[in-house]
Amino acid sequence: MALRPDEFDFIAKLLKERSGLVITPDKGYLLESRLMPLARARGLNTLSDIVTKMKAHDEALARDVTEAMTTNESFFFRDDKPFTQFKEMVLPLMLSARAGKKAIRIWSAACSSGQEAYSLAMILKEEQARLAGWHIEIVGTDISMEMLEKAKAGLYSQFEVQRGLPITLLVKYFKKKDESWQIDPGLRSMVQFKEWNLLRDLKPLGQFDVVFCRNVLIYFDQPTKAQVLESISKQMPADGLLYLGGAETVLGISERFKPVANQRGIYSQS
Ligand SMILES: C[S@@+](CC[C@H](N)C(=O)[O-])C[C@H]1O[C@@H](n2cnc3c(N)ncnc32)[C@H](O)[C@@H]1O
Repeated sequence: MALRPDEFDFIAKLLKERSGLVITPDKGYLLESRLMPLARARGLNTLSDIVTKMKAHDEALARDVTEAMTTNESFFFRDDKPFTQFKEMVLPLMLSARAGKKAIRIWSAACSSGQEAYSLAMILKEEQARLAGWHIEIVGTDISMEMLEKAKAGLYSQFEVQRGLPITLLVKYFKKKDESWQIDPGLRSMVQFKEWNLLRDLKPLGQFDVVFCRNVLIYFDQPTKAQVLESISKQMPADGLLYLGGAETVLGISERFKPVANQRGIYSQS
């Protein structure tokens, strides 16, 4: 049974407030496909029942609804180029800029199940000869507890490791465990994962020299994108660099960042 317009609006408002996700009536089918399994798991029969429960302030349900509506797709070395740029341009730049303190902090904001953060860890591991004496931190954050659990476990299916991960790195950094692949404990220990909503105050996370915030702003409306970019910029030093996804830009949204010439997808502070 379809949701009444006021019920749709209730869910849309809740999602926007909690995660930034904008859902328009033409995407109503997404509510159906993602929330009905949740409803059934809780012994509810319809989406309207979910709305009724949330109106009665069922906080756990509201959290699960928000989480179920996030799109979590990710894969190792996604889009390839950003990681080549990281290895060939960003890392050498940071090694020279931070030669004094020998410390670099990297943030995979909206890290989903961890592939982006672990791809960076693999690059750093491959470059370890140049990094002796350096303290390099990688922090992965996401709003989805389920994805963070998966990221922390570092256990990926055959399908997941086949998407983007070169076979040489698979063999080197993963061990077969039943039908899945377990990430090497050394790599696992290079990344810290924590729950963090990008709409919240980001200050407690500290400053980051390089920020990967890819394929999450696309789900937000313009004011939310601007607000998130503004708060991310406050967590970066003047020479910090920001990565966005292939379908994302700062142009017309934020004056805080500008594209780095000839480096698609990378932004420096204005
Ligand atoms: C499509 S995935 C992108 C993963 C990775 N960055 C990549 O490009 O492969 C988007 C992620 O953003 C997370 N997300 C959505 N809204 C968020 C918010 N307000 N704060 C933090 N993470 C959020 C989702 O849970 C999801 O894991």
